[in-house]
Amino acid sequence: MAKAVRLDKFLADAGKGTRSEVKKFIQKGQVQVNGTPAEKPELKVDQDKDVVVLAGETVGAAPEFVYYLLNKPAGCVSATEDRNDRTVMEYVPSDRKGIFPVGRLDKDTEGLLLITDDGDFAHSITSPKKHVDKKYVAKLDGEITEDTVKAFSDGIEFSDGTKCRSAVLECDENDKKTGIVTICEGKYHQVKKMFLCCGLKVVHLQRISIGGLYLDSNLHIGECKLLTDLDKKSVFIGNIH
Ligand code: URA
Repeated sequence: MAKAVRLDKFLADAGKGTRSEVKKFIQKGQVQVNGTPAEKPELKVDQDKDVVVLAGETVGAAPEFVYYLLNKPAGCVSATEDRNDRTVMEYVPSDRKGIFPVGRLDKDTEGLLLITDDGDFAHSITSPKKHVDKKYVAKLDGEITEDTVKAFSDGIEFSDGTKCRSAVLECDENDKKTGIVTICEGKYHQVKKMFLCCGLKVVHLQRISIGGLYLDSNLHIGECKLLTDLDKKSVFIGNIH
């Protein structure tokens, strides 16, 4: 039994919940190993031989990497740990080691945040060389004008000389205090600073997409879901730059 692991670890690693959640499934008799209800979380299972069934469905061995999409709430930081603040990891239904947020959203920014343990995947999104589009909905304290749209398109320059690449700013004729911004970089506070350069303050910010992967309207704030392979591929589809 070279690959024997505890049943609760096996279930948690397979994305079925945190260690404490899967322990409850076991206590409630919802888990069977080789056709027999499992009684203890510490029961050892051999990932190659044993058949583990949770609520009628066979559970496969842990995938090499996991990919979560979190609808990040405001009030938590994009870090694996923090001494003062809640972190986004508290919303991930897994205690798998090595998972981390892909890039960062500010503490008060909501929306799409990816969390994974696949370093190459994360790098291909966050690397400044890759230019993956990120789309945000920004609510502002004033109205967007044609000059704002042009300034974004020309490339905003911050007061310290940092130059942003061309960005797309769209807004509805009937709501000029809300902009949809597409940027292909990830500079610190980038969207807020770009608007500030145009005399506008961002009062609410939400990320709605990375590449062709969009926030699912059924996923409430604070909820997290596992990505499918198709979701993962869509991150690299449809970039404008
Ligand atoms: N730009 C910002 O200003 N804040 C974010 O959280 C993301 C992009």
